[in-house]
Amino acid sequence: MGIRASLAILPRGPSGCPGGYGFTSLLAMTTLDPLAGIPASVFQSRRADVFAALGDGIMVLPAAPLLYRSRDTEVPYRPDSELFWVTGMVEPGALAVLLGGAEPRMILFVPARDRDAELWSGPRMGPEEAAERFGADEVCSRSELDFRLPALLREGSRIHARMGVHADLDRMVVDALAWGRARGPRRGVGPRSVVDPGEILDDLRLVKEAWEVDRLRAASALSVEGHRAAAAAVAPGVGEWAVQAAVEGAFRAGGGSGPGFGTIVGSGGNACFLHYVDNARVIGPGELVLVDAGAERLLYHGDVTRVYPSSGSFTPVQRAVYEAVDAARAAAVDAVAPGVTVAHVHETAARVLLEGLVALRVLAGPIDDLLAQEAHKPFFPHQTSHWLGLDVHDVGDYARAGASRILEPGMVLTVEPGLYFPPGGEGAAAELAGLGVRVEDDVLVTESGHENLTAALPSGVDGIEALMAEVRG
Ligand code: GLY
Ligand code: MN
Ligand code: MN
Repeated sequence: MGIRASLAILPRGPSGCPGGYGFTSLLAMTTLDPLAGIPASVFQSRRADVFAALGDGIMVLPAAPLLYRSRDTEVPYRPDSELFWVTGMVEPGALAVLLGGAEPRMILFVPARDRDAELWSGPRMGPEEAAERFGADEVCSRSELDFRLPALLREGSRIHARMGVHADLDRMVVDALAWGRARGPRRGVGPRSVVDPGEILDDLRLVKEAWEVDRLRAASALSVEGHRAAAAAVAPGVGEWAVQAAVEGAFRAGGGSGPGFGTIVGSGGNACFLHYVDNARVIGPGELVLVDAGAERLLYHGDVTRVYPSSGSFTPVQRAVYEAVDAARAAAVDAVAPGVTVAHVHETAARVLLEGLVALRVLAGPIDDLLAQEAHKPFFPHQTSHWLGLDVHDVGDYARAGASRILEPGMVLTVEPGLYFPPGGEGAAAELAGLGVRVEDDVLVTESGHENLTAALPSGVDGIEALMAEVRG
């Protein structure tokens, strides 16, 4: 992450107390720094919310681990969403400790400057810079962690930490619990339970701030650009991989860090595998090609699906299936509004898909009965929506105590109905076998209803054909 590049141009707040970064001027900067344009007050205000929920607990948020793709070759680093959301930190090796109580405080551990290490992996911030940037009450070198963290963990009545990810942290948490169990009853101090940080953070992250919506808008717009590149690349004889390359090239060229998830280019029957990412087949004539792709830009995501006919125009049966799915998408997008449940959005899509399945003569009977039987499930086996944000499948419960979540302004979700008729599958006419169609938009819940963030990309049959004619020349 090119964080140091931005440090040179970010106006500095008073020493040890960063703040006062100008929002507007920095938003116009050309940079891939995820912190660019975000005032430190954003993170201070988020931490106030976290501390309010934390009570006398302690929260530990480590940076994402470095992952290896093979032997000593690293997977490109992706910062941890929770650590970024709470602190703004994107550097590997960092760890934040939030200590609740009457005088809440945040302690950061960051890797010390190291000339030899920096020669290989680029500049590090170091504790001094971090102290100025992130408004921590104390900043320590990461090398102090093994010594300091066990004592800090004993200070809270609960430890909010994700278990099972970092073996070292797991061990320290278990030791602190043993200490709390042994000493707590007499001394009245010490941790007695472990809680996942998501219990506090997920809900806070679910409703997006205005600048986050701007980032999601930009990531959605870049995802649309990727789809325009896909529409230009799809043709008989072209490898699915070449379409993937066109999409991901557009993401990178547009300032994205790349795809936010494995790009799906499924031609023919491959469209029926929901998360097909091999992209290893050559597109045949007269086939449909399902492209499900989303850009990550400044840590926020888009997620868009369209289906392109390899010849540039849909056959009648392809058109019928596509129109059934796109009608479900349109109805479900229209249903998105504050006060509406996630389940209602899904049911709206399922109802329109069932009407399509009846029209296609795949099913028969009253729609209400078919809905009650979930007769769509063999052909539409997934949900209509997921949250979208710092993670593609972003955090937040879809239901609480058995009741579906009610949408609120600032939530962002996908709407992605589909119909799949796998080759050799049962229950559908032979002419449908091998067809897989999904259409996916990204939708913001607004005060008055919704905003479709990916409306710039045509979704109907005529619009897709016109787009292909335009971009293929
Ligand atoms: N690409 C995965 C999804 O749409 O959820
Ligand atoms: Mn998708
Ligand atoms: Mn999706």
